[in-house]
Amino acid sequence: MKLTTIEQQMLNGSQGKGVQTAMEILVKMGELYGAERFLPVQNAHIDAAAYTTIWEAGTEFIEFLVEHGAKVSVPTTINPVSRDIENWEKTGTSPEFARKCERLEKAYLKLGVIPTWTCAPYQCTNVPQFGETVSWSESNAVNFVNSVIGARAVRLPDLVDVCCAVVGRVPEYDLYLTENRAGDMLFVLEGFGSEWFTDSADYAVLGYLAGEKVVNKVPVIQGLPDTTTKDQLKALSAAAASGGAVALFHAVGLTPEAATLEQAFQGKTEYETVTVTPKDMEAMRSRLNTGDKEEVDMVLVGCPHLSFAEIEEVAGLLCGRKIAKDTHFWIQTSHTVYELARRAGVAQVIEQSGALLVRDTCLMEMEYNGRWRGRQFVTNSGKAMQYAPAINEVKITLADMKGCVEAAVTGKKPEEGRRHERD
Ligand code: F3S
Repeated sequence: MKLTTIEQQMLNGSQGKGVQTAMEILVKMGELYGAERFLPVQNAHIDAAAYTTIWEAGTEFIEFLVEHGAKVSVPTTINPVSRDIENWEKTGTSPEFARKCERLEKAYLKLGVIPTWTCAPYQCTNVPQFGETVSWSESNAVNFVNSVIGARAVRLPDLVDVCCAVVGRVPEYDLYLTENRAGDMLFVLEGFGSEWFTDSADYAVLGYLAGEKVVNKVPVIQGLPDTTTKDQLKALSAAAASGGAVALFHAVGLTPEAATLEQAFQGKTEYETVTVTPKDMEAMRSRLNTGDKEEVDMVLVGCPHLSFAEIEEVAGLLCGRKIAKDTHFWIQTSHTVYELARRAGVAQVIEQSGALLVRDTCLMEMEYNGRWRGRQFVTNSGKAMQYAPAINEVKITLADMKGCVEAAVTGKKPEEGRRHERD
């Protein structure tokens, strides 16, 4: 790679061994990907926050950087950790595990991160601008900032993301290059009535379906309603990223690099076209559902972390009601959004129902203790549909937000494969 004077100095160790180590790793990675140079970044988001992701070796690496004088050099937010920092006992975390998490959190604070502990930093605190080059990791977040905002990011591996935040640079490769941002496959939505795509669960199914077909390339979606919200695109981003490693999609007429079909494909005229019908969506939904009992042990929403608007929606649906005796309802969000919800009085409405607002973390990042093995879950998240069975060994059913709240209140699973009737 061709390095600037300052980059060469970093590599030579003039800014300390921590920065030097980060630079050595990035130069090797850049060479591996055929990058010719580094690009400066405006901000960063680190994925490698959960102890269950990087464990002891990763913790030691962050501590090594800190001991050798490294600090993040651009505004840097960070993903959920492995415990609810204020309420870890309520979510079944052991004291010994909580101590390990705390050690890692402290190391990151010394490194200089903004302690957002959320996988949706673009909802508050770290909102990139169109066209900015950023060093982000966390699959849903990368897909969101690329697709919905039009900033430029690639899915950086864990700990490489930390190195990028320290040196304030990324190797120029993959989606940092304009030509790699063109669409590869067209998905045309056909036969959908106005009852479709009014809730995030439909976007999650579509994201999963497109992700599985396109795998690691750029899908272009035509036919989404112009009422589509950012929260719904968040659900699509997360599901496409977990279903097919999608890091950028275009939705014609909705996302900033796809005002027209032509723009989405950067003028290319040859590409595969896939038609998506309600039948395809129902088939995908049925395939994802593994729930096999009527009783529901856990309703899990907030994967990715819920926005303020989504918390308000849950509060509106729950108002004055109680969660079923043998059912848990976990609503995952950031402590920032939680604080806004508390000040607005909506967090209290949720808590009075018996539901738990989980902050700073998520079930899939927490200590694994077999607590949920074989239990029946309901969620509105495409990403949780994949991760919770794989990590927590649960059975899971997809529902829209209203269906999730009804499942939490009644303790009964919504009818499989069927979208909840709306008022
Ligand atoms: Fe976020 Fe955890 Fe889901 S980090 S995207 S809530 S798996």
